[in-house]
Amino acid sequence: MEIKRRDFLSVGFALSASLALVEKTAAFNQRSPKKETPMNTRDSLARFKKIPRLSLVNLSTPIERCDRLRKALSAAPRLFIKRDDCLGYLVGGNKLRKMEYVMAEALRRKATVVVTSGGIQSNHARVTAMAARRLGLDCHLVLNGEIPREPRANFRIDSLLGVTIHAVATRAERISKMDEVARELEKRGERVYVVPLGASDEIGSFGFVAAFEEMLAQQKRLGVSFDAIVFSTSSGGTQAGLETGKRLFRRSVKIIGVSADDPSESIRGYALKAMKPMLKKLGLPTTVDESELEVDDKHFGEGYRIPTEQSKEATELFRQTEGILLDPVYTAKAAAGLIDYCRRKKFRPTDNILFWHTGGLLALFE
Ligand SMILES: Cc1ncc(COP(=O)(O)O)c(C=O)c1O
Repeated sequence: MEIKRRDFLSVGFALSASLALVEKTAAFNQRSPKKETPMNTRDSLARFKKIPRLSLVNLSTPIERCDRLRKALSAAPRLFIKRDDCLGYLVGGNKLRKMEYVMAEALRRKATVVVTSGGIQSNHARVTAMAARRLGLDCHLVLNGEIPREPRANFRIDSLLGVTIHAVATRAERISKMDEVARELEKRGERVYVVPLGASDEIGSFGFVAAFEEMLAQQKRLGVSFDAIVFSTSSGGTQAGLETGKRLFRRSVKIIGVSADDPSESIRGYALKAMKPMLKKLGLPTTVDESELEVDDKHFGEGYRIPTEQSKEATELFRQTEGILLDPVYTAKAAAGLIDYCRRKKFRPTDNILFWHTGGLLALFE
């Protein structure tokens, strides 16, 4: 059965209607004032709801208590977990949330093919490929690293989907290769939509504004108010979305990103780059000082993908106390951060702390 793109467009609660709305949104954006005039919350919310979005998957992942983990860490705060490890598309995780906005934009621009990049085992590249295929779009991936003889984990899914893979030796070569691939495809008459690394731009990051709203509804149902959210950060889109959500919904929750690879200053820079146009689009003040973004770069150890003693201990603790699996690249290091904060008494025992599991579990099958 052929899946019509409009089917997706009609179910999304935020995209809510159809391409007609998208046209309206474009006109609306053109009318936005040049000078920064902060709007009231209702107007900003109305703007947010008009941003094109697809409904791709089972959102509203559960928020659960982690009482046994808390008990294992003496005088720890009340711990909760947001289970984006339960998101569809084989643990699409934080990447799938971004796809709802990225793919809506690709369709709005009438793209026929999407091009993106990442490492050989990139969660983002694999989820982009799955979402593109689901919508009937072609997909080209620029991946750095050695092509494995036996495809496994994320790379296996890329291969099974039959998307075109362009291998490059290093991270540094990815952007120029993406440009080259895009130009080549355009010459062949394709309409290309390039998705930046991690879909962490001012479009994909709206997935985490929506996620923030989802969390607010859940905390109300649970009768708690989170004091801090701890999660894995890398290309900065998850952080940009949560920080924008915090401003849109006027909350004071602390947003603490634990770096999986880069120094704090770099990740703050990536997040700010996405945040400013997002805030502008919502009519919110765009002046954000770097010091307002908390990025902890003390837990990635020797580097990306290399486990640390603390990340191994965190993985073991989550598994044994709560039966929750972590991936070694992202969530294990974020969990190591969380455990460290609990032990160093960064939080009060009465605080409510949300650990946001961002997915990545296919790494267990590499
Ligand atoms: C499982 C997982 N968690 C966290 C992150 C970091 O998210 P972001 O790139 O939005 O900072 C990634 C990014 O690749 C990821 O795959």
